[in-house]
Amino acid sequence: MAMIDAAIWPALDYSRVPYRLYHDSELYAREQEAVFRGPVWNYLALEAEIPEPGDFRASYVGDTPVIVNRDRNGDIHAFVNRCAHRGALVRRELSGNAEEHVCVYHQWCYGLDGGLNAIPFRRGVRGKGGLDPGFDMGAHGLRKLRIGTVNGAIFGTLATDSEPLDAYLGAPILAEIRRMLHRPIRVLGYTRQRIRANWKLYAENTRDNYHASLLHEFLVTFGLDRATQIGGVRMDARHRHNVTWAEADSDTAEMAREAYNSARVRNDRLTLREPSMVKFRRDRDDNFNLLVTSVFPGAVFAQISNSLAIRQIRPRGVDMVEVHQTMLGYADEPPEMHLHRLRQANLVGPAGLVSMEDGEAIELVHRASEPDRDRSTVIELGGAGIISDRDYRVNDVPLRGFWSYYAELLGIEPAGAVR
Ligand code: FES
Ligand SMILES: [Fe+2]
Repeated sequence: MAMIDAAIWPALDYSRVPYRLYHDSELYAREQEAVFRGPVWNYLALEAEIPEPGDFRASYVGDTPVIVNRDRNGDIHAFVNRCAHRGALVRRELSGNAEEHVCVYHQWCYGLDGGLNAIPFRRGVRGKGGLDPGFDMGAHGLRKLRIGTVNGAIFGTLATDSEPLDAYLGAPILAEIRRMLHRPIRVLGYTRQRIRANWKLYAENTRDNYHASLLHEFLVTFGLDRATQIGGVRMDARHRHNVTWAEADSDTAEMAREAYNSARVRNDRLTLREPSMVKFRRDRDDNFNLLVTSVFPGAVFAQISNSLAIRQIRPRGVDMVEVHQTMLGYADEPPEMHLHRLRQANLVGPAGLVSMEDGEAIELVHRASEPDRDRSTVIELGGAGIISDRDYRVNDVPLRGFWSYYAELLGIEPAGAVR
């Protein structure tokens, strides 16, 4: 097959996505370069995870491993976790505290700013061997990312031509990240979930309002997320990111029963021994019980009921994605509230009653679409055509925004396409 180009799209509004885009391994390599290492900002870590000088944390930009650390002056740096010598992974730990980063292979030693500080046997031994005297240490540090932060969330970019971070995110997305991180947070834990599906199926899943209350019986039954709630989607001007929102107690059990009965969705089968587990505790002066903010390409800032989490989408080859989730509470809360948030976060963790369904659903898509790559998905809930904000929940418009910007970055945007 020839290289994928703009002719791949059956429709100019991205309402048809050829299955090939989830399965082509040549495209996978291209998107690592053009998307993740392109002019985007990738969520990397939280400042709260590296509070002290010397603290470091492993993260990813797509499938490229990176290190984020704090130097002696308190400044944050991020660099590719790959030795300038022969390409070994330098840091193998997930996190820690260190004066420097030393590669295990030949002990090249890097500072907390990523600069190359020392090379063993640089002048050889007994007057022989070693590097040429003109070898430029300054030119062989770890590859640096430019970083930016929003209320303690650290983003990084490998491109020199990225927009400023705030402009990249856009006002509605910035507002949601600031809302979630409006006061000092505490990391309550981490989960990782491996799903046998292309990473873009997961990026679509978090933008997909339509599925939430149909696939996830648990959400409907306990009123955590229903299509009958007042809600909708907001996007940045380029429509690459989106916020899915819903207001608590904005529908009635009767409205839900009627809507879901006619949609033939069961919402009366499950019961809980401990109903307080799913109770939404209003803990700020707005009324949102669901705010899921998807940041292109691979970050999700999610409040689902009282659970707070940041997800990082880590592609692991064309057929595998790892979802890394950082669960949060606020530093000044009583431990009981942390426990409440954790219980609810577990619902959406890999062993919970929500995310395992998402994993299963996108695996089904990945498996069934693989053999017939010239056929396409259908994305037109909320109407085809223009990509715009909606004040209702039954839509999948932000998926088309995702594909529109993806096509631009890959250089496969057809003439006359919507944006
Ligand atoms: S590969 Fe790192 S020191 Fe040689
Ligand atoms: Fe879901």
